[in-house]
Amino acid sequence: MNIIGYFQGIDPAACLVRDGELAAYIEEERLVRYKHAPGLFPVRAVEACLQQAGLTLADVDAFAYGWDVPRYTGGTMRAFYDRLNAQAPHDEGTRRWQNGTLSWFNEANVKERLRLALARHFGAPAPPTLCFFPHHASHAAAAFFLSPFDEALVCTIDGSGDSQCVTLWHGHGEALDLIHEIEIPHSLGWFYAALTEFLGFAAYDGEYKVMGLAAYGRENLAFRQALAKVVFPAENGFDYRVEPRYLHHGPHTFSGRFTDHLVELLGLPPRAPGALIEAVHEDLAFEAQRLLERNVLRLLRHFREATGLRHLCLGGGVALNIKMNSRLHRSGLFNDLFICPIPNDAGTAIGAALGVNRRLTSRRPAPLRHVYLGPAYDDAEVELQLQGCGLAYRRCDDIAEATAALLAQGKVVGWFQGAMEGGPRALGARSILADPRMVESRDRVNAAIKFREYWRPFCPSMTEEAVGRFTRDGTRAPFMILAFEASDEAHRQVPAVVHVDGTMRVQTVEEGTNPRFYRLLKAFERQTGVPVLLNTSFNVKGEAIVCSPRDALRTFWSTGLDALAIGNCLVEKPTTPLPLKPEEVIR
Ligand SMILES: [Fe+2]
Repeated sequence: MNIIGYFQGIDPAACLVRDGELAAYIEEERLVRYKHAPGLFPVRAVEACLQQAGLTLADVDAFAYGWDVPRYTGGTMRAFYDRLNAQAPHDEGTRRWQNGTLSWFNEANVKERLRLALARHFGAPAPPTLCFFPHHASHAAAAFFLSPFDEALVCTIDGSGDSQCVTLWHGHGEALDLIHEIEIPHSLGWFYAALTEFLGFAAYDGEYKVMGLAAYGRENLAFRQALAKVVFPAENGFDYRVEPRYLHHGPHTFSGRFTDHLVELLGLPPRAPGALIEAVHEDLAFEAQRLLERNVLRLLRHFREATGLRHLCLGGGVALNIKMNSRLHRSGLFNDLFICPIPNDAGTAIGAALGVNRRLTSRRPAPLRHVYLGPAYDDAEVELQLQGCGLAYRRCDDIAEATAALLAQGKVVGWFQGAMEGGPRALGARSILADPRMVESRDRVNAAIKFREYWRPFCPSMTEEAVGRFTRDGTRAPFMILAFEASDEAHRQVPAVVHVDGTMRVQTVEEGTNPRFYRLLKAFERQTGVPVLLNTSFNVKGEAIVCSPRDALRTFWSTGLDALAIGNCLVEKPTTPLPLKPEEVIR
């Protein structure tokens, strides 16, 4: 059985679940080369998933979409919005948003978007079977069914999906039973998005910047007291509530995501995008992050005690918050965590497909071991591209050894190998790598290639055996979605990948799932004594991560990268500018 799951919104994506297993996944932005590709139908992603599996559209048994479309079409969501509006003062922006969702998720509109996209891209196929799966159930399915646990507490946290902002589930075997939900307007995702815009970054994009900035902030009692009026404990002692007058109900002079009441409450003008970052902004990020963590921890502590469940699966866009995840890890509340590696809405493509598959077959897939689920290119394709560009390159018997030698010399290398990874992190398939022993290499990556802000940390990839040596509290972490406390040796040996708060956002690399990247780390260890590399995504600021060899070559030549290890081929830039002979000077 072939099920295509898809998501259309910010970060549209598609996946293929084939005979119950996740066989392919890709975000549309990687193919259209347009960051986040907001609103596009992921038709190229659908095509790429089918191509990878050698299928055609005719082989697809069903499409799966991670929204509770019948609720929008049958009037339940309208009634839900009406109840909300009756409780709160009239708010035109919120009503416009509500009406927009009622139209966007209306069944006829959803079906027409799918039909049109497939007709335009593939010709005119018969309308496909389309199945719906509720949004938070999709987040939960992606988090639980891909986890290694037979039984777990499953928590999803996002801006909103259908009427929900948080859900808690008892996952057991092939079943997910809803235990608890928190509905609109009580959204931690919206709260964090509002603070993201308040601090001058784009919501649903710049949240990780706020998280990074929080590490530079200090405790600020005035902000803490103010924000406690925005998000606060509910009467039952474990839920939280969000006061809508600070985000929704009131004048929106600065942003649609927060009202002027919030500006007044904080006693600080919102930071304009690109304006100087001051200590107050760092402190505000610190307090917003603290508030998020405290509310999530209180909620999960309650359900840990109420259910006795010792494993936690986490999904939803807020689970991209590595700092919060690490706080959960350090809390010791659960024996083990599985954080969905693609927890944002793009991952609902996977969750919806797995949910529909479970509905049809009562099966769940094998635990997820890696996310190298995108397109791959063999050496013949790579060399064709290199030759087509007229580039000098050398074919290496051991690309890992040759790349390690360049990295040990302080070179910054583009690493393009095997099937592309899905999700927001580069995990050693489309990565920019550098020597983590020197902060200069970090600064060079920043200055010549990534143009990142000073407060954003670079992450280390290390062999799985090394995590105990370089962290104090590290565990297996193949998806770079947890941070651990850096050990003394890490501070001494790999300072370029230790964040200002003394943590490291680690990827542990396993020989079984990415043998070539593992061999590279081992080769680097043989040459330097350190099985760790600085790993950042293979893209420049504002662009999607590279997907094809052509994308990689373009980024390689348009940045300060020294070399490109692509398949078994190595391309190097000249180390010094070529001298011009007098007769070659253009007059
Ligand atoms: Fe969501």
